[in-house]
Order: sequence, then C-alpha cells, then structure tokens
Amino acid sequence: MITKLQFSMPTVFQLNKIEKACFGKEAWTVNNIIGEYQNEFSHLFGETDGETIVGYVCVRIMYEEAQICNVAVLPQYRRRGIGTRLLETVADFSKVQGCERIELEVNTANVEAVELYKKCGFEVVGTRRDFYRRTKRFPTRDAYTMLKQLTR
Ligand SMILES: CC(C)(COP(=O)(O)OP(=O)(O)OC[C@H]1O[C@@H](n2cnc3c(N)ncnc32)[C@H](O)[C@@H]1OP(=O)(O)O)[C@@H](O)C(=O)NCCC(=O)NCCS
Repeated sequence: MITKLQFSMPTVFQLNKIEKACFGKEAWTVNNIIGEYQNEFSHLFGETDGETIVGYVCVRIMYEEAQICNVAVLPQYRRRGIGTRLLETVADFSKVQGCERIELEVNTANVEAVELYKKCGFEVVGTRRDFYRRTKRFPTRDAYTMLKQLTR
C-alpha cells in the first residue's frame, strides 16, 4: 500500500537503505533525506511490504509545477508495478495541490527509468548536456527533461 511518509528517524534510515541499494555512491545521505523533510515544498510517498518500505518517491510541489526529485524501488521488488503506482500517486496528489504539470530530469542512459516515465505519460521535452556528475553507473552525464501535463 502506498502512503505519505511522515518524518521519523526509522523512516529516514529505511529511505537511506533504499537509496544505497539503488544509487550506490550517489545515494542521498541521511542528512539529505532529513533536508527533504525540512523542505516545505517536498512530499514523500512510499510502498511498504509489512513494516518495510520497498520503494519511494519524492516530489516537490512548486506552485503550478510538480518536480519529481527521486523515485527508487529496491532491486528485488522491481517490475511489479511499484514504480508506476508511486508515479500515479504523485500525479493524483499534484493535481489536488493545483499543479498543471510534472517535470523531472533523468540520465539519458537510465533506460529503466526513462521507460517507466514514458509508460506513465511523460514525454521528453529537452536534453541538458553534462547535467550530472560523472559516475560509474552511466556512460553519459546528459539528462532528458521530461514532462507530464496534468488534466483537470
Ligand atoms: C526505475 C525504477 C524506479 C522502476 O521501478 P519498477 O517498480 O521496477 O517499475 P514498474 O514495475 O512500475 O515498471 C513500469 C515500466 O517501466 C519500464 N521498465 C522498468 N524496468 C525496466 C527495465 N529494467 N528495462 C526496461 N524497461 C523497464 C517498463 O516499461 C515497465 O513496464 P512493464 O513491466 O509492464 O514492461 C527502478 O528500476 C529503480 O529503482 N531504478 C533505480 C533507481 C533509479 O534510477 N531511479 C530513477 C532516478 S531518475
């Protein structure tokens, strides 16, 4: 079940575990995650299996635009529709908050994420050269900007 994740240190530690499993050295630290909770624009949603958070999404609601900062699902829980349901939850929430669109950046070589976003109604609207720091994970530093219009 997907729920809005309220702040607690055990939740922060669980999210940090997901981050490490999904992003390795690029993972958000405990302090980064606490920072998101302190950001008045940020909202976090998670899918749980029992007491364990197995996937989460962070969205910033910036007036008419929602920005997805992160979506991650533990490797052993992937391809079960969790990513899709997290993005559907964000779309519903963003609409209720009065947003007209959702925007995000994704590494052009992150095929699984690009395909997830396309499946969820996002379109590539631009490319940002050298947007990311160089990492071992992807051969390119370029980002697609992707957009989903929200219908009222
Ligand atoms: C991207 C991610 C969140 C997808 O989560 P997920 O729960 O597996 O997504 P879903 O099961 O809802 O998959 C939805 C669709 O995405 C696409 N997709 C997902 N994984 C894919 C893969 N490895 N290769 C190709 N397409 C893939 C498919 O179209 C899939 O639909 P299908 O299963 O019917 O074919 C997950 O792979 C992940 O956590 N990756 C690492 C973190 C990351 O890079 N996040 C994005 C940061 S911008």
